[in-house]
Amino acid sequence: MSKTYIKDSHETNEDIVWHSQNVTKKKRETLLNQKPCILWFTGLSGSGKSTVANAVEVELFNRGVKTYLLDGDNVRHGLNKDLGFSEIDRIENIRRIGEVSNLFVDSGLIVLTAFISPFKSDRQIAKSLVKYDEFIEVYVNTPLEVCESRDPKGLYQKARNGDIKNFTGIDSPYEAPVEPQIEIKTDKNNIQQCADIVVNYLIKYGYVKGNENDYAI
Ligand code: ADX
Repeated sequence: MSKTYIKDSHETNEDIVWHSQNVTKKKRETLLNQKPCILWFTGLSGSGKSTVANAVEVELFNRGVKTYLLDGDNVRHGLNKDLGFSEIDRIENIRRIGEVSNLFVDSGLIVLTAFISPFKSDRQIAKSLVKYDEFIEVYVNTPLEVCESRDPKGLYQKARNGDIKNFTGIDSPYEAPVEPQIEIKTDKNNIQQCADIVVNYLIKYGYVKGNENDYAI
């Protein structure tokens, strides 16, 4: 049986009417003293998305910033455990993450997502759900050879042996971002340096407040 998850907008139920709420996003923003956004990490498996996103979240947490990290491997244990790695399942994976991220942004948080998200069109859909400056694409640009040599979970080896099908970079495509807001290279910079690039971007563009030591170097 083929899976079809996505209904088009024509199928939206006309009897469901949006209910406005008194506690608005703006009020939550003021309360939390931060500008919510999505830091959308994209890159190959083993590129360092989760590691850098985790380091960024630690840094933000230590500064009192309210965050939430959605990580591909973890979300696929719960919300998306019914999804595999076919094209249609990956589209649905990213669609749900886009919607969940949108809700978290509405709640005032800085959301970090770490998914391969290999298709440009899916990242574009996630981006279109929020305001233009609420979506920050972070391209973790690590060459396939480096990711494959790291092979932290042994999955590249399995993919090369044909034991896993549709593995990104091997027998499934990865469409690199064209104009990401941030590009980081985990094969050239260490994790802390990569995390600092992201945090400095957030400070520079007013998503979070800096402190007096931020531009000391
Ligand atoms: S995505 O393509 O749908 O965005 P996602 O980020 O959720 O992928 O999950 C990727 C993780 O699932 C990888 O880091 C890897 O650990 C695991 N994985 C298992 N099978 C595959 C596969 N065929 N392709 C890519 N990743 C896979």
